[in-house]
Amino acid sequence: MILIKLGGSIITNKQKPLSPNLKAINNIASKLRKLNESIIVVHGGGSFGHYWSVKYNIHTKPAKYSKKGVSVVKNSMVELNKIILDSFLKNGLSPYCVPPTDFMYGHKVDSKKVKEISRIANSGFAPVSYGDVIWHGAGKFYILSGDRIMGILAKILKPRLAIFVLNVDGVYSSMKTKELLHEIKGKSAIISRVRADVTGGMHRKIVEASSISNTGIDVFLTNVNMPDRIVNAVRNGKFDGTVFRR
Ligand code: IPE
Repeated sequence: MILIKLGGSIITNKQKPLSPNLKAINNIASKLRKLNESIIVVHGGGSFGHYWSVKYNIHTKPAKYSKKGVSVVKNSMVELNKIILDSFLKNGLSPYCVPPTDFMYGHKVDSKKVKEISRIANSGFAPVSYGDVIWHGAGKFYILSGDRIMGILAKILKPRLAIFVLNVDGVYSSMKTKELLHEIKGKSAIISRVRADVTGGMHRKIVEASSISNTGIDVFLTNVNMPDRIVNAVRNGKFDGTVFRR
């Protein structure tokens, strides 16, 4: 089974609030269709959920946020999720929506529910989850990112491979030279490179990718503009991007 994260910045136009990147979504969907292997997909918020959570100042820390803000963030993620589901359906996949509230209880993960997701995937559906605003109890909510969901699912389901689809080729050794790191092993080396060289968003992804690879799973970071690279990695083990070795 393959676990795939579609970053918010590739499925939406980040500069324009509430605009999906339909071309990219359809393009990815048509490639995922070719995989011949069970998949579980997680997507981010981009110019939907991120846009509103910034506007209403809602964060990953549980707190009593603006009620209107929580509703608006949640609604926007449902809307973006629906766009992804419709595209998957149109492109011949059988998407099955799994909001994170299906398997989260506050900050706790219901691992029985998570295991059911892999059964859904193994029966020919493509479960689709997404970063969301989550009820924490006592009037509090928090943002659970799609990257974090990747970590949660990977730890319990042990996929053969986890893939993060980005709008860059992978991890660069330096932003100046743009030299791509094809393979990364070991935790400390990665973090020191990251601190020096990448933005916060990428930093979060790298920390999650590194932590998933430390649980014994290969993690592949690849560019959305070359979607055949996803197919090549899954089918032929050819990693054109950055792979975090287990
Ligand atoms: C964010 O999920 C979800 C919300 C803000 C509600 P992610 O953090 O995974 O989104 P991207 O991929 O960075 O856009």
